[in-house]
Amino acid sequence: MIKLTNITKIYGKGDLEVPVLHGIDLTVEDGEFIAIMGPSGSGKSTLMNIIGFLDYPTAGTFELNGEPIGSAKERVLARLRNEHIGFVFQQFFMFPRDNAIKNVASPLIYAGVSKRERTERAKQLLDKVGLGDRMKHLPSELSGGQKQRVAIARALVNNPSILLADEPTGALDSKTSEQIMELFTQLNAEGKTVILVTHEEEIAAYANRIITIKDGLIIDDRRER
Ligand SMILES: Nc1ncnc2c1ncn2[C@@H]1O[C@H](COP(=O)(O)OP(=O)(O)OP(=O)(O)O)[C@@H](O)[C@H]1O
Ligand SMILES: [Mg+2]
Repeated sequence: MIKLTNITKIYGKGDLEVPVLHGIDLTVEDGEFIAIMGPSGSGKSTLMNIIGFLDYPTAGTFELNGEPIGSAKERVLARLRNEHIGFVFQQFFMFPRDNAIKNVASPLIYAGVSKRERTERAKQLLDKVGLGDRMKHLPSELSGGQKQRVAIARALVNNPSILLADEPTGALDSKTSEQIMELFTQLNAEGKTVILVTHEEEIAAYANRIITIKDGLIIDDRRER
């Protein structure tokens, strides 16, 4: 469970201050499938980065599974990120010279997992996301949808309970987007908490809960089904 209370975020200092989040209260239960929507610049990615321990809030409290995170050090945040969070981005972010297996396995290097085990785990996950026949391909040899599958497999490699995806279908055509959303739906059904940002209603419709942000505040929070 994630509990954010009165989270604010101000970028920059002094005259250059950019206030972005103005007091976000949000509780996410295990197993939820949430879509975050809202205009460009409203603070969606900022919020995702805070939820994913990629960035600190300026103020407010954050609890993970009942534990306050407070002003944890960078090293602690990195550990929480590795243990709990899988991140997927619109731009895939892959190592261009590494094949799919190596890209998926890369987070395990930092976890100190042996090469053989890394490869084994990466292959399993590539199979799971439907890329069993593309494991040795380089990113440049994969379609956008296939690249996003590799990125999802990589996000799963540490077996996180929470998957965060910031516009995961933003660079994909609608047919491919549907396939990627079916994969997120399957992962959610298997127990992953999924939180994704999208600008598209058809994508948000896959979620059970749709949160709308405007000017750094939650202005709507509705549960479907
Ligand atoms: N590192 C930063 N330093 C200063 N300002 C920033 C920084 N990152 C984001 N901002 C500003 O914060 C505001 C919110 O940005 P954010 O990326 O969270 O918006 P978003 O809702 O994700 O938008 P989009 O839909 O375009 O991705 C924007 O005005 C942006 O310019
Ligand atoms: Mg964004």
